[in-house]
Amino acid sequence: MELTVAITGASGTIYAQRTLQLLIESGAVETINLIMSGVAPVVAQVELGADLRDPDSKKINRWLGLSENSKIIRFWKLDNLAAKPSSGSNKQEGMIIVPCSMGTLGAVASGAGTNLIHRAADVALKEGRKLVIVPRETPFNAIHLENMLRLARAGARILPASPGFYHRPKSIGELVDHLCFRILDQFNIPHSKKTQWSGTEVDLED
Ligand SMILES: Cc1cc2nc3c(=O)[nH]c(=O)nc-3n(C[C@H](O)[C@H](O)[C@H](O)COP(=O)(O)O)c2cc1C
Repeated sequence: MELTVAITGASGTIYAQRTLQLLIESGAVETINLIMSGVAPVVAQVELGADLRDPDSKKINRWLGLSENSKIIRFWKLDNLAAKPSSGSNKQEGMIIVPCSMGTLGAVASGAGTNLIHRAADVALKEGRKLVIVPRETPFNAIHLENMLRLARAGARILPASPGFYHRPKSIGELVDHLCFRILDQFNIPHSKKTQWSGTEVDLED
């Protein structure tokens, strides 16, 4: 399978890093077209201390713990509107925007995008492919909420960066992975299923 993953300047770069690692570990994805917004490296620096300025394939591979020459990630520049993900004729499963800022969300919802992330998301919607958007902001204003509703009605899957606690996470890593597993679930990509709820009997009398 081939997917496009976009990282924007919302808080939660770690969700992007783990999603990419889990996609690769799954063995189900042959190629990941990766796009980063201009602000994404700033957030990566603030939150993870990662240097993703002037990103290229080698830098991204190092960040993900891959060998420098690994070919699974194909990195595309944000202003390259001739890149592979900008065309509907390029067959692929869909796209994930993780984390998704309110800026990118608004641009995609309006259909008036200006960069490769916006264009690739627009292509996913027009081709009826899966578009998983992981918005991150709090609180949401009415414009954010309306944009999300608009996108959901256009076929996008809105998967907010709000991890569950029912698996009793003991670390930030477990919290993050819980959300990333839900992203993989949208594409039926296998994972350890550590967070898959199998039902329980809860005695409310206790
Ligand atoms: C450290 C940091 C954290 C941010 N967190 C968020 C956030 O959680 N959600 C959001 O919508 N914008 C957030 N922003 C603001 C966006 O980066 C800003 O609106 C930017 O224009 C988004 O552009 P992009 O969508 O092209 O990445 C953050 C900015 C910084 C520097």
